Amino acid sequence: MNRDPKSEQEIEQKKNCGGSRSADRERAAWSRREFLANSTGFAVAGAISGLAGNHPLSAHEMMARGSATKSLVSNPTPGKPRRIIIDTDPGIDDAMAIFLALRSPELKVEAITPVCGNVPLDLTLPNALRLVEIAGRTDVPVAAGASHPLVRRLVTSGHVHGVNGLAGVEFPEPKIKPVHETAPEIIRRIVRENPGEITIVAVGPLTNVAMALRADPELASMIPAVTIMGGSLSGGNITPAAEFNLYVDPEAARIVFDANIPLTMVGLDVTRKCLVSEQHIKQLEAASNPVSQAAGKIMRATYERMRHGGEVTEIALHDALAVASLIDPGVITRKDYYVEVETSGEWTAGQTLGFDGHGPVRKSPPMETSAPEPQPSEVPFKPNAQVAVGVDPDRFFRLLIPRLTGNAA
Ligand code: RIB
Ligand code: CA
Repeated sequence: MNRDPKSEQEIEQKKNCGGSRSADRERAAWSRREFLANSTGFAVAGAISGLAGNHPLSAHEMMARGSATKSLVSNPTPGKPRRIIIDTDPGIDDAMAIFLALRSPELKVEAITPVCGNVPLDLTLPNALRLVEIAGRTDVPVAAGASHPLVRRLVTSGHVHGVNGLAGVEFPEPKIKPVHETAPEIIRRIVRENPGEITIVAVGPLTNVAMALRADPELASMIPAVTIMGGSLSGGNITPAAEFNLYVDPEAARIVFDANIPLTMVGLDVTRKCLVSEQHIKQLEAASNPVSQAAGKIMRATYERMRHGGEVTEIALHDALAVASLIDPGVITRKDYYVEVETSGEWTAGQTLGFDGHGPVRKSPPMETSAPEPQPSEVPFKPNAQVAVGVDPDRFFRLLIPRLTGNAA
């Protein structure tokens, strides 16, 4: 990587990845206006670099020509496993997603990059190390990511994922250590060493991915596809408006949606329909391999907590569906949307608004009464994402459970 290692962003990355407290001072320097100006400038730079010269076409151009659909679904390395980096905040459903990816020959996991989210980084990092050890895949490098969102206070969801992020199930301390690179650094290195081959699979807040893209604006043009678990066009889960991953870091999500990378959004619209049954849990518990046993313990602990807490025992495997959609693309159906991420709402930050070309793209009325009336966008409809709008839950579980148990479907 021929970049000045002392660049401002790389200094920021080092400070915000791995949990050092100096990140607070570093981040405080970013006023929101300065941040958004930077990210807007970055997004334009990314778009320009994606269009200029011999760079691949931007997502907009590919989608406009109908080829983005192909690029999103087809394997960039045909005849070989799809090469992926998993960015994650393990996390109960993250654990199922990681186990599924590590036990599926259709995928080659090049790295796992933990980020703060469900629980703080000082838990998601060791949890990721534990999961690769349980899966017997310590060949996969794990690189520590962001301990804070780009500009906001971290909000976690330990009430859902347990105080340790794995439903309170106690697994041994990991023996392996993370690599020395930060998450943004390993993402940038692997993508630059393999342009056009690495799909980013982000199943947590998008802070790591945004930091990599912002530090290296040309990176976007080298990434053939991004699949995220995140967003929702049918209401949120952490607020009525926002899905958790985008709620935690809306500014990072905006950078990723604006980066002109062919993007598949696997949101709550479909993931909330993929609910684990007690029958599934019994199948996991009945199999004797370490992955199935660990998955069974995590699922059982979650199920019993909900049952004894009087909650409806609905455990949606959000992240595992995002991974499954790369193994069996037909498990979901997709529709082109232009997705805006709300970043300034007092009650709606992180909300994803989907425009499908059949209605105006219009902002809220300005506070300055003398300002002009917001007009519908004149720009012709250009989607920036394929949103999962349909799912076959039975098909999903017919893939997931045998992969984890090792038993044929
Ligand atoms: O809203 C669901 C998402 O938030 C999943 O990725 C889950 O792990 C949590 O991070
Ligand atoms: Ca997650």
